Amino acid sequence: MNTLVIEGGRRLEGTVEISGAKNSAVALIPATILADGPVTIDNLPEISDVGILAELLRDIGGGVSLGDDTLAVDPREMFAMPLPNGRVKQLRASYYFMGAMLGKFGKAVIGLPGGCDLGPRPIDQHIKGFEAMGAKVTNEHGAMYLQADELTGAKIYLDVASVGATINIMLAASKAKGQTTIENAAKEPEIIDVATLLNSMGAKIKGAGTNEIRIEGREVLSGCRHSIIPDRIEAGTYMIAGAAAGGRVKVDNVIPLHLEALSSKLREMGVTVTEYDDAVVVEKNNALSPVDIKTLVHPGFPTDLQQPATALLTQASGPSMVTDTVYGARFKHIDELRRMGAKIKVDGRTAMINGASTLQGVAVRATDLRAGAALVVAGLIAEGKTIIHDTYHIDRGYMYMEEKLRKLGAFVWREETEAQSEQTEATDRKS
Ligand code: EPU
Repeated sequence: MNTLVIEGGRRLEGTVEISGAKNSAVALIPATILADGPVTIDNLPEISDVGILAELLRDIGGGVSLGDDTLAVDPREMFAMPLPNGRVKQLRASYYFMGAMLGKFGKAVIGLPGGCDLGPRPIDQHIKGFEAMGAKVTNEHGAMYLQADELTGAKIYLDVASVGATINIMLAASKAKGQTTIENAAKEPEIIDVATLLNSMGAKIKGAGTNEIRIEGREVLSGCRHSIIPDRIEAGTYMIAGAAAGGRVKVDNVIPLHLEALSSKLREMGVTVTEYDDAVVVEKNNALSPVDIKTLVHPGFPTDLQQPATALLTQASGPSMVTDTVYGARFKHIDELRRMGAKIKVDGRTAMINGASTLQGVAVRATDLRAGAALVVAGLIAEGKTIIHDTYHIDRGYMYMEEKLRKLGAFVWREETEAQSEQTEATDRKS
């Protein structure tokens, strides 16, 4: 079993290069299904979710060549193979095969997606969109069956500004007859990235990044080449790590505008954040002030940085509150942080953190991707050795994390261990 071990207490100094955005990549890969010619995606992060999605493209007959940071897909021999089980259950983003296969083939059978356990994660808005375009959607034995003789453009109002629903509807609508309008669309940068790819294929999408997106469907979409935007969540995680561990960290290859909500919170805490064209520098030399954080849809504070930010707030001198309005139950990391000595209470959607606490290195478990990132931040500042189990969660979203941290001066390495953590064993026995 693979663990990540961190010997805490080292300041971080140097430059970290940010990879392509995970949450773009996992939508762009299924989007290649829609093309009628080869598509190449550059700046691809080397993370396990990408590998699984590439395998799924192979499963449905795609020609797939996965290089160091490039994916070349030839979709011309793809067919509407049902995917009710197996790999689709390993990650959330397999739901994008619904929109892409429905658009391309007029039908799809996709197992209900897996992914991080953040409490309830319904896909009713995706389905509402597909149905509005004329698809019949049923749930049979844990798989979604989608079928449309013809997809037609429709006006769709999303009850929640969902990233996944916005992208999935864009995918299907790119091949629908006529115009589709998504109102109350999500505005995350990854949505703009997917629209850019689809437009490069010849789709006509306007308004991505605003709350109203208009999509003119096309019968044929061509091949193209596309480079993924930088991962704002990976970047934010290293900014938080730098602020927690102290020192000076340059986070390179980013779009600073995408990091505004975090940069302003860090400044409120007393951290110096300097923005350049495609980099931000984080310097922490003084004590951290407590702040309150409320997660919101973009451009608000991202829920994906809530967990690492909570770890940072254990070091602020006084009480802070973190409220997650997007995923009200995204607090599995709190028990692990408490194990390390953090003083945190959770009441509903809010965590109350009483800083500053001296954290101690112990064996902990990454319960989900960003919980893993929170434990890495905590491990960097803890006294002694933190051993993080279930690192496969971290590998789903962070490329070469220990190498990148080592380059910044952290003492961090992987260890293979025979025994599982006591907690992991207990959980496994329950499931
Ligand atoms: N929601 C519904 N109905 C729907 C869809 C969503 O009620 O049909 C609710 C969700 O339950 C949640 C809120 O709407 O409360 C937002 O969910 P959204 O659909 O926006 O999330 P998602 O598309 O499933 C993506 C990212 C998440 C990120 C969220 C929010 C991917 C693959 N995942 O999920 O990323 O937290 O948007 O920004 O893009 C992560 O990277 O760690 C991660 C979990």
